Formats: sequence, structure tokens, C-alpha cells
Amino acid sequence: MKKIVGHITGGSLSDGLVMRIRSSEILNELKAGKFVAIETAQGTFFSLLTDLKLEVSNHDILLFPPQSHEHLLKRFLQDKDIYATALLRPLIMLGAERRPLPVKSIPSHFAPVVEVSKADIAAIFGDETEESKRYFNIGSPLDMDDVAVCINLERLTERSTGIFGKTGTGKTFLTRLVLAGLIHNDKAVTLIFDMHSEYGLQARKESNTHAFVKGLKTLFGNKVAIFSLDPVSTRRRGGQPDVTITLSYQSIAVEDIIALQEELNLHPTACEAAHLIAVRYKKDWLGVLLQQGERLKDFAQELGAHPESIAALYRKLRAIERLPFFVPDSSENNKNREDVFDAMMEYIDRGVSIVIEFGNYTSLFCYLLLANIITRRIHTLYVQKTEKFLGTHLKQDEPKKLIIAIEEAHKFLNVQAARQTIFGSIAREMRKYYVSLLVVDQRPSGIDPEIVSQLGTKIIAQLSDDRDIQAVLTGVNNATQLRSVLASLETKKQVLVLGHAVTMPVVIETRSYDEQFYQALAPKNRRPSQEVIDELYL
Ligand SMILES: Nc1ncnc2c1ncn2[C@@H]1O[C@H](COP(=O)(O)OP(=O)(O)OP(=O)(O)O)[C@@H](O)[C@H]1O
Ligand SMILES: [Mg+2]
Repeated sequence: MKKIVGHITGGSLSDGLVMRIRSSEILNELKAGKFVAIETAQGTFFSLLTDLKLEVSNHDILLFPPQSHEHLLKRFLQDKDIYATALLRPLIMLGAERRPLPVKSIPSHFAPVVEVSKADIAAIFGDETEESKRYFNIGSPLDMDDVAVCINLERLTERSTGIFGKTGTGKTFLTRLVLAGLIHNDKAVTLIFDMHSEYGLQARKESNTHAFVKGLKTLFGNKVAIFSLDPVSTRRRGGQPDVTITLSYQSIAVEDIIALQEELNLHPTACEAAHLIAVRYKKDWLGVLLQQGERLKDFAQELGAHPESIAALYRKLRAIERLPFFVPDSSENNKNREDVFDAMMEYIDRGVSIVIEFGNYTSLFCYLLLANIITRRIHTLYVQKTEKFLGTHLKQDEPKKLIIAIEEAHKFLNVQAARQTIFGSIAREMRKYYVSLLVVDQRPSGIDPEIVSQLGTKIIAQLSDDRDIQAVLTGVNNATQLRSVLASLETKKQVLVLGHAVTMPVVIETRSYDEQFYQALAPKNRRPSQEVIDELYL
């Protein structure tokens, strides 16, 4: 028997339904974001509780509220005259065949509202036990610890995804969880730009005991490769990089510098100067610039560029000389350098995910520069792959879905950068080339609103700035109601999930990333995928 929490007494399709809460005990249990079901003869309306309100039958009562010692009066009022209501937003209906349908009607007066059951949740969000491995448990509804809410991983990979929340809310933990789901269920290959070394080997857990959690390499072994910019740091943490990244100046395009415009405080004329150099020296532009030292003025004159702009560009880009993984160009060096991208593609083609570890190079400058260079190159290779596939239509030519994960996304995708850089193009082209983004950010208002509205799935933890809340809900149905749900999230491990990968918006307690989680992924539970079986027997 499901527990009745109240009855519908009013409301509308557009504003939401009003539920009279059954008793004050139940009122104490209800929270914004709770998931409830309205039962009717035609089906069940699954709803999110978005607001709570105190009511009295007669407003005169409020003129003479009972004093704290007037117990009898209080009880008397409680029986008949004071009560509470909740606002419910019906988001999905399960009809007779238990198939989720959009809500186009409303329940009638006094329809009972009950707590949802485990079976309801599985019918709406899918079930991990299904053969296809399409669904992945990412948490449980509020106050239903033993029930799994799943995301549809296949739908998740169809468009870009955003994970937002202020600092310390659990974004990185959740991102690691989602990536683990994709890797475990073989739904996509992931390329992770791991600025703080939190994804590969291990990550520190916030606690007095300095405990660590396992990274993706530790969990998945050969299904994940570590590409390190700082092999010393990787080894110090007990790992062995699969590949050490070294790059030539030639791998840096002017576009990558433009992506750094804000970070380096580069004047637009300096960017134009970079273009001028590139027109003349092509791929060698940066190497040539960095050799000028004494003769910057003459160099500017030769190019017909403004000397100040060239000087500023030179000054700011000299920071690159201090990064040991960039090696000045020489034909011998370049041969090796190019291998990094080939190696990445080789791993990706084999379905191996890549974690790029920055080790001690944690500056934003480094992160932006490297993420742009690598993503631009991988994207170019993906475009070629896709075109080849479109030419042949051979199954073996079909590129694997690639998801690129970046933190501090507003640095890559602010209005200015999004128009000019590779990340903006990927976000806009909507998977045409099998590449999509997983953007993680604490300041979504800094991201180009057009890009935020293109995100297929959003997972949103607590945000305190109004502008950020506004930004994540732009273009979302029922934004007003979801806003109050967002405002009521706890500071950690609670998120609102909405969009493409879930049937309806839902608030969850994030699944714990712990021993129990590792157990659930352990190989003993894993049947080899069809691809692996084919490979073994062919
Ligand atoms: N799903 C989870 N399982 C276990 N612990 C979690 C989970 N989510 C959050 N935590 C705890 O909360 C802490 C903060 O989480 P996390 O590092 O993911 O926050 P964040 O939002 O990425 O913060 P920042 O913006 O500072 O990077 C973690 O160190 C961990 O102790
Ligand atoms: Mg983080």
C-alpha cells in the first residue's frame, strides 16, 4: 500500500496543481524537489514538489494566534482550520501501458497523491538490469536511498552535457561517476582534460582522514590511458603514464592563442599581429616569433605590423618557452611530436579513453592552451574520419563517439571565445562529427547562453548566484518552478537532472563514489560486450 501524502484540491495545467497535505506529520517530511505521484483512473501523473505553503480556513484566526501554552486550542485548530498545501508540477504521465507520456490533462478533484515506488522510478527512468546497458544509476530520489534513478547513456552521448554547481558541491565526483558509466557500459570514448589530477589515478576526498578515491585508470585499467604533461608528478602519485606528451611550437595555431585572449589580456591588435606572422610563416609562426628577441622592431617592419603589438605578443607568448613539454622545432623533434596525436587517435580507435594529466602545470594558461591545441587536432582527425565513413558507409569505418570533458568551461566558452575557438564549434555542430562536450563549471553565467541552451542534458548542483541559476534554466520548460527546486538543494551531493538523458527533471542524491560503487563495476559482474566477443573469435 502506497503512503498517501495528500489530495489534489486545485491548480491548473499551466501553474501546477495544489495538493492539500494530509497531516502536519507529513508536512514535516515533505521537501521541495520530492518526487510524488498523483493517481487517477487514466494513469499516474509523476510530479515534482516545487513549493509549500501554510493556509488557514478563516483569516480571523491569524488575528489571534494561539499562545504557546494553549495546547487545546492548537489541537482544535489543527483538526479543522489550519493546514498546508504543496504545489506540484506534473512532468510525466504513465498511462495504462506504463509508457511515459507528456502531460496534457490534469487529475480531477481529490485525486490521491502518493509516494512513488521503486517500480515507478524504473518505469520512468529505466533500469540498470536491462541488457542494452543503456541505463546507468547516478543516484536516488530524495528520501529514497534504496532506489536508483538512471540516466540514459545513449541519449547522453547524443548531445553535449553540462555539469554545474558552485565550488565543493560534488561536480568533479559526479563527472567522474558519469564518465565511469560511459566507460563501463562502452557507450563512448572519453577524452578528459584533468587539470587537477582528479580523474586518472586517484583523487583526494574531502575529509579529516585524507582518504582517496580511485581514479578511472585505477578502476578500468586498459580501458583508460594516461597521457601526462608531467610524468614526474604522475609517477610520484604511483602511476605510470602510458604516453608522455611533448609538443612542438608548430602544433600551436593562432586560433589557440585567440582562445587565450582573455587569460593573457591580449589586445585584439596583438591577435591580428599573430595572424600576420602566420600568413607569412605558416606553421612556423610561433617559432619564428620567439626567435626575434633583439630584432622585434625590424621583424614588425618586415611584416607591416604595429611594433607595439608584436612586442606585446612576444612578451606574453614567451611564457610558452618555460613549459618543458614544448620543444622548439626541428625536423627530428617534429616527427616525434606529431606522434602524440597519432597515439591519441590510436587509443581512441581502440575504444580506450584518455585522461590528460597536467600534474604540476595547473595554471589556467596551460590548461586552456593544451586543451585547445589537442581538441582542435583531434577534431580535425575526427572530421576526416567521419567523411571517410560517409563515403564508404562501412561499419568498421564508423568513428566511435567521443566525449571531451573540460572543467572551468566558461573560460573556453564565454561569448567571445565560443565564437572563435574549437570548443564553440563542437558545441554548435551538435555531434555531426561524433564529438560532443561534457562541460563542468561553477559559473555557468559566464558561458555563451546560446551554448548553454544547446546542451542536451544538464546536471545542476547548488548555485548561489542568481545569474548562474538564470543561465542554467534559460530556455528550459517550467523554469520558474525548477528555480525554486534549485534553490532548495543541499550544498553537497544533491543535483537537479534535466534534459535529453532523463525522461523528466528529477532531483537526486548523487550516487556515492566509494567502495560499493567500485564493487558494482567490478569485472565479475561484467559480461564482455559483443564487440569484445567478436574480436576474440574472429
Ligand atoms: N558522489 C560523491 N561520492 C562521494 N563523495 C562525494 C560525492 N560528491 C561529493 N563528494 C564529496 O564532496 C567533496 C567535494 O566534491 P568535488 O570535489 O566533486 O566538488 P567540486 O564541485 O568539483 O568542487 P570544485 O568546484 O572546488 O572543484 C569531495 O571531496 C567528496 O568528499
Ligand atoms: Mg572540481
